[in-house]
Amino acid sequence: MPRLNTLASIWLVVTIASYGQTTRNGDGEAYNLTESEYLSLEGGSLLPFPDLTAKVEKDVAEIRSKFPEIRNITHNRKWIPGQVLSTRIRQEQIEKLNTSSYGPLTKVEKIDVKPFFVITVMSFNKPYSPPVLCQKLEGEFGFPCTSNIVYYEYEVDNIAYRMSNSTYVFKKGTGMCKENCEDRLLWEFLVDENGSPSLVQEWVVPQNGERVVIA
Ligand SMILES: *[C@@H]1O[C@H](CO)[C@@H](O)[C@H](O)[C@H]1NC(C)=O
Ligand SMILES: *[C@@H]1O[C@H](CO)[C@@H](O)[C@H](O)[C@H]1NC(C)=O
Ligand SMILES: *[C@@H]1O[C@H](CO)[C@@H](O)[C@H](O)[C@H]1NC(C)=O
Ligand SMILES: *[C@@H]1O[C@H](CO)[C@@H](O)[C@H](O)[C@H]1NC(C)=O
Repeated sequence: MPRLNTLASIWLVVTIASYGQTTRNGDGEAYNLTESEYLSLEGGSLLPFPDLTAKVEKDVAEIRSKFPEIRNITHNRKWIPGQVLSTRIRQEQIEKLNTSSYGPLTKVEKIDVKPFFVITVMSFNKPYSPPVLCQKLEGEFGFPCTSNIVYYEYEVDNIAYRMSNSTYVFKKGTGMCKENCEDRLLWEFLVDENGSPSLVQEWVVPQNGERVVIA
């Protein structure tokens, strides 16, 4: 969370959670994206462009087909697309943003966290990646900006994509357990130019937190 201090971050999390802004099911939100659209955004793209989304969909299908042990691992989204938060944005900046190439804004909601600050929740008419958008907005408009992060009650399975080197990390989460949990298992795959996946490494993070490379 760039430029938000620790206190602000904690309050942001508590407040957003208590206002139900971040829920597992994302009540009342605007976009229902596919797994490959989410992965494209999380991999570093501003929008889920069709070419990229098609590549990701094909890559993930190839990985699942070649490596059956990770076939059942699914993606769980990190944040709500097309939505950003700011604790320090002025009305004129909102108006400028609304009429900019990123706009229009479909909804602007203010949450007053007395006596700390006001959180402005801004929704856009496109399913932007919040971290990629925030970096642009901070540079071009000068207000601090953060993603609307989704919190999970327990450690979920996940898939992460990195556009920069065409790698995918599949993670088997520890699930709902509180004691005697299973270890986290992770696999990193590289998909080459021909669309062929290979296992780069496989590792386990046991409950004591120390990483052990398996392969
Ligand atoms: C997205 O899915 C949720 C839950 O199924 C639904 O309530 C909502 O109306 C959907 N939104 C859109 C824009 O399709
Ligand atoms: C994946 O799920 C299917 C259906 O629930 C199950 O039969 C299969 O054993 C699972 N595979 C792995 C590797 O967990
Ligand atoms: C954004 O601009 C449109 C068109 O000018 C306007 O109708 C809308 O009220 C504006 N929204 C905000 C949040 O300023
Ligand atoms: C891909 O990039 C990430 C982040 O820079 C790095 O941690 C990872 O080792 C890279 N993987 C490969 C196979 O190059």
